[in-house]
Amino acid sequence: MMPSAVPASEQSIADAADALSQGRLVALPTETVYGLGADGLSVQAVGRIFAAKGRPSDHPLILHVGSAAEAKKLAAHWPPVADRLADAFWPGPMTLILKRTELVPDAVTGGQDTVGVRVPGHPAALALLHAFSKVGSGVIAAPSANRFGGVSPTRAADVVLGLGDFLQAGDMVLDGGDCSVGVESTIIDLSGDRPRILRPGGLSRDAIERVLTGGVSQSDVSSIQRPATVPRVSGSLESHYAPRARVALVQPGQIAAVAAEMLAQHPASRIGLMPFDHQALENQLTDPRLVVRGMPDQAKAYAQKLYAVMNDLDRLGIDALLVARPPQTVEWEAILDRLRRAAASVDDSATMGK
Ligand code: TXA
Ligand code: MG
Repeated sequence: MMPSAVPASEQSIADAADALSQGRLVALPTETVYGLGADGLSVQAVGRIFAAKGRPSDHPLILHVGSAAEAKKLAAHWPPVADRLADAFWPGPMTLILKRTELVPDAVTGGQDTVGVRVPGHPAALALLHAFSKVGSGVIAAPSANRFGGVSPTRAADVVLGLGDFLQAGDMVLDGGDCSVGVESTIIDLSGDRPRILRPGGLSRDAIERVLTGGVSQSDVSSIQRPATVPRVSGSLESHYAPRARVALVQPGQIAAVAAEMLAQHPASRIGLMPFDHQALENQLTDPRLVVRGMPDQAKAYAQKLYAVMNDLDRLGIDALLVARPPQTVEWEAILDRLRRAAASVDDSATMGK
């Protein structure tokens, strides 16, 4: 079934809350990416998320709630640092991993003793959580609303095109416009001795470090570590967030030359290019086999646009995608992480097709 997206309104949000309470799926806008939501405390409803996404059942889901107070009910242990982070960044693009209570089904956590919780910032998501707390559990499990391993959606239309065939009668897609952040939430593990960032995301490492140090103790800065191994974070799979085309990251100044070389070797191919807008490559990129989408040189604007461009290019059926490599600075961390994962199945830019 191909459902259509309904604009988020008081009525459609009330309908969506009812749908959730009946165990249906509701794709919802958040400020990061669109989520595929279901009642997070219902084993059956959560099972439908895994089926629709084609996601292995041991990959845990994030639970979305309307407030930090609601999040606390899902956590067996709520350390003081959780309050500091929640006060500073919720509602917003931050997920906290905490020891879970019995309330949280195994189906959500993949059997782990921890749970990911987030208070999203998008007004329609908050309104839906509020409405759902009146008619149901008020807890929405929601992974990104894409098929497993694919590119996350930041527009309702991408959800419908990517997942529509896997939804059933009574499921809904709420349209809340384009996502303002554009990459997934930053995941911070608070279940161990020290906070660890498991996935860089919409909230920067800098901002988190400022809150954790409170401008007082320098030694706390090192309290944010990169994990050595994080087995159960699906976002940490090497190849993930990937379009169907082969993706390669290239030096910005090389992109036209690499494209030309690829076309010389594979004359029948179509190649997507994501140079920076400022590169002024117009004269070099006129070949009709090239599909060019210029990208902003500011990280926030780039993140907003990234998945929309990748989803568009994916649907055009390109054979390869060349992306100008962004700078390796902290504000580009989440973008670089996603681009590297998208490119993980490629070892050199001359590899074509799949
Ligand atoms: O911005 C976001 O976080 C979006 C929106 C919809 O909220 N959601 C999202 O969900 O990105 P998903 O399922 O695509 O990615 C969630 C990540 C996965 O990599 C999962 O493994 C990890 O969170 N995760 C969830 N619970 C976890 C836990 N208890 N321990 C470690 N990682 C966990
Ligand atoms: Mg995802």
